[in-house]
Amino acid sequence: MPTSPARGRFITLEGGEGAGKSTQLRRLAETLRASLHTRGVGLVTTREPGGSPGAEEIRGLLVTGETGRWSATTEALLHTAARRDHLERTVWPALEAGTWVLCDRFFDSTMAYQGYGLGLGRELVETLQTAALGGFRPDLTLILDIDVETGLRRAVARHGGEDRYERMDIGFHQRLRDGFLDIARREPDRCAVVDADADPDGVQARIWDAVSSRLGLAQGRES
Ligand SMILES: Nc1ncnc2c1ncn2[C@@H]1O[C@H](COP(=O)(O)OP(=O)(O)O)[C@@H](O)[C@H]1O
Ligand SMILES: [Mg+2]
Repeated sequence: MPTSPARGRFITLEGGEGAGKSTQLRRLAETLRASLHTRGVGLVTTREPGGSPGAEEIRGLLVTGETGRWSATTEALLHTAARRDHLERTVWPALEAGTWVLCDRFFDSTMAYQGYGLGLGRELVETLQTAALGGFRPDLTLILDIDVETGLRRAVARHGGEDRYERMDIGFHQRLRDGFLDIARREPDRCAVVDADADPDGVQARIWDAVSSRLGLAQGRES
């Protein structure tokens, strides 16, 4: 785990299917890059599951195939194994070098999907994360919140074969949403809930408000 004082910041984007994480990650990366550039600081964007060659291989096992392909426990272990590799190979080296890292999903997704959605419970998921990551946590987590129907409508309209979770029933997606909100209530200093029910420009502005106020940043282009 990085300990140097000049360490970069680690920001994660979380939320259910179709909340707009990937869309907003691209937009936030652009604004953040401009802001950090003025200080000579770099930014890396990455995603989970994946973000390193080994973790991307594990991703293929997780996001395709039958919905009941894995038990909840096996699924949490696969996500956690992928996460450890991603941290070792991509995230920790970047943070050590002073680069900021912006990540599409992280361990809150394991808690929400496997812990709350698939009924594994908080305790087991927390135990797994502690064993695999130690006390490492994001500096800031943006939780994009949207009603389940709107999110799924957006996700279905988007094409692509990585849809194993999208095909799970509506109750699962509701538990997921409630789970993310519960996570945010438990860790208000780390997590900011962003209402994602607006057009992409509107959501982008809400996200930048949260990031700039919590991390003390100014819009890069102006300076
Ligand atoms: N604010 C928004 N309003 C309407 N559609 C959106 C919005 N944000 C994203 N979309 C569209 O919804 C779909 C899912 O967005 P995406 O960013 O892939 O979500 P996620 O990564 O959270 O699953 C995409 O087709 C995207 O273009
Ligand atoms: Mg996405």
